[in-house]
Amino acid sequence: MISKVVFGEPVRTDAITAEVETAKEAARFEVTEDEKSVTFRYALRSRDVVYGLGETMGKVNKRGGRYISFNTDTADHTDANPSLYASHNFIVVDGEETFGAFFDTPARVVFEIDWHDSGEIRVVCETRDLSLYQIEGGSAYEVCRELIRAVGRCYLPPLWAFGYGQSRFGYETEKDFRAVADGYQENGIPLDYICMDIDYMDGYRDFSFNEKSFPDIAAFVSEMKGRGIRLVPIVDAGIKVEPGESVYEEGVQKGTFCRNREGGYFQAGVWPGMTHFPDFLNSRARAWFGGLYKFYTDAGFEGFWNDMNEPAMFYNEYSRGFKNVLFRLALDLLFGNRQREKKERELLRGYKSFYHDMDGRRVRHYDVHNLFGGMMTRATSEGLEKLLDHRFMLFSRSSYIGASRYGGVWTGDNSSRWEHLMLNVRHMPSLNMCGFLYSGADTGGFGGNCDRELLLRWLAFSAFTPLMRNHTGKFTRDQEAYRFGDVEAFRKIIGLRYRLLPYIYSEYMKAALRADMYIKPVAFVYPEARGIEDQLLVGDSLMIAPVVTQGAGGRRVFVPEDMTRVRYDGEFRCEPAPKGWHDVDVALDQVVLYIRRGKLLPVGKAITNTAEYDVSELTLLGDGESYELYTDDGLTRDCKPENIRILTK
Ligand code: GLC
Repeated sequence: MISKVVFGEPVRTDAITAEVETAKEAARFEVTEDEKSVTFRYALRSRDVVYGLGETMGKVNKRGGRYISFNTDTADHTDANPSLYASHNFIVVDGEETFGAFFDTPARVVFEIDWHDSGEIRVVCETRDLSLYQIEGGSAYEVCRELIRAVGRCYLPPLWAFGYGQSRFGYETEKDFRAVADGYQENGIPLDYICMDIDYMDGYRDFSFNEKSFPDIAAFVSEMKGRGIRLVPIVDAGIKVEPGESVYEEGVQKGTFCRNREGGYFQAGVWPGMTHFPDFLNSRARAWFGGLYKFYTDAGFEGFWNDMNEPAMFYNEYSRGFKNVLFRLALDLLFGNRQREKKERELLRGYKSFYHDMDGRRVRHYDVHNLFGGMMTRATSEGLEKLLDHRFMLFSRSSYIGASRYGGVWTGDNSSRWEHLMLNVRHMPSLNMCGFLYSGADTGGFGGNCDRELLLRWLAFSAFTPLMRNHTGKFTRDQEAYRFGDVEAFRKIIGLRYRLLPYIYSEYMKAALRADMYIKPVAFVYPEARGIEDQLLVGDSLMIAPVVTQGAGGRRVFVPEDMTRVRYDGEFRCEPAPKGWHDVDVALDQVVLYIRRGKLLPVGKAITNTAEYDVSELTLLGDGESYELYTDDGLTRDCKPENIRILTK
């Protein structure tokens, strides 16, 4: 049962699409208001678990932490940092009382959850205008499903978006992209797409190509597609201020950019220098921006990643001092924290000095900050719906609840650290709780230098995340899977992803079409696994227990009921795994997974590209009797819950 309590006059976030009854007051929280904020408190019992918050730091159980919803461009993915790129203000209390609460406001929200052992949840919404959605009844899992249902149908990617992709900040020319495609194909390692980072652009301008590097972009897209490889360009939020350039001129003329204090167009410094931000909170500006992707779809592109949409800004028109990106980055390096604090203050001042026209309602950016990235995804998605007659790949860095209807997310600039592999493991169920099914992290890590062991273990986990993309930063070591000596182990583990595709694609599509989660905590089905965060349920049949520790030749695994253990070493080897704790060896070139009792896992033949996807001969592993295989053509929009074929042993 879901109901909402309205405070003041909330702006439209469109996070929830279901009709929801209005309740008079908050059922579970003690509420206090002052001129600037509304505070919600709930007394926790000692055994209560608190789930949710999607993309935040901390654990899957959010107790003991302080989290701030304020979308931030940050590479500091440590518990010292209260804000990442997204705001997913949904929590679930699971204990003597089980209920969910979604604090629907794009303003800054502070969550203190048993912070400093206070024994309570304290949520401070820094606005007087918000809707509180409260979900009552059932288990934590049912509460999450109720929210996902209320958000509305999740984004449906094409089959190829479930393939493996390679990316790097630094690929510049056709030659670079061909070399990556060659590297994979010559080594027999599967690959479906390569992302194009900002270096494809002319001077980092969206909707442009460096013509020296790409003399005939449409021909190049088609050449790569002929090899089974889609190219996926990045699109940043800001449009370069440059009189004479068509996109800039059009935006100025149509009035689709955000305004500054004086009524002019606000200027913020990002990769290309000074830019204007499209007003994604305005429906006319969204329609305009979405239509701009014609530039890419005309050249044959079918997938995109939207970035810098918190929005990130290195400086802005009101900043003091030098307005040069490289010079500013150098200052950061030289003066460290002092510079950082100054920059944070400057950023906040910037967010407070520009305005949106929310279809007639003028709002200060700071007060609706957390909506910006998600609305960029919406603009893109609605544009692509019109431009293409089939599904497309789309994922974004910044998001707000509801954006899952339009595209996926990736979790931003992590690093090549074991802690960040574990963070990826924690993010996945939390994102799914908030409806973000199509998600993943930069496999191998964005910052720093990945080594062979970390990349293999990370791939072995990413093999189960819908978005499986290896991405790294500009000055890091080469991170393509063929750059780490003997490629056999990489071929095997990425190959496993492709053998599991019939299952991964089916489970994703069924979850998306049935308002379900694709990845969930083990405790959502097996309460005795409460507290276990390094094992996950993937779809309806599988439990995984990734190795997330350096030097470990395996790990301890809790098997919550009798299951089938499958060891993949190029072949699938099944053996019984009785209920209880097990010490399990997992060699670096192996993946061990667990099939739940009474369930089946369909596996396909070895393929190296989704173009070879074939469900005509599947092997069914496990002791179940039947499996619901979801099938469609993987590309058109003909995705119906009835596209099910029952497979029996
Ligand atoms: C941001 C993105 C990263 C990208 C870089 C350059 O840091 O998060 O993925 O590579 O910008 O575009």
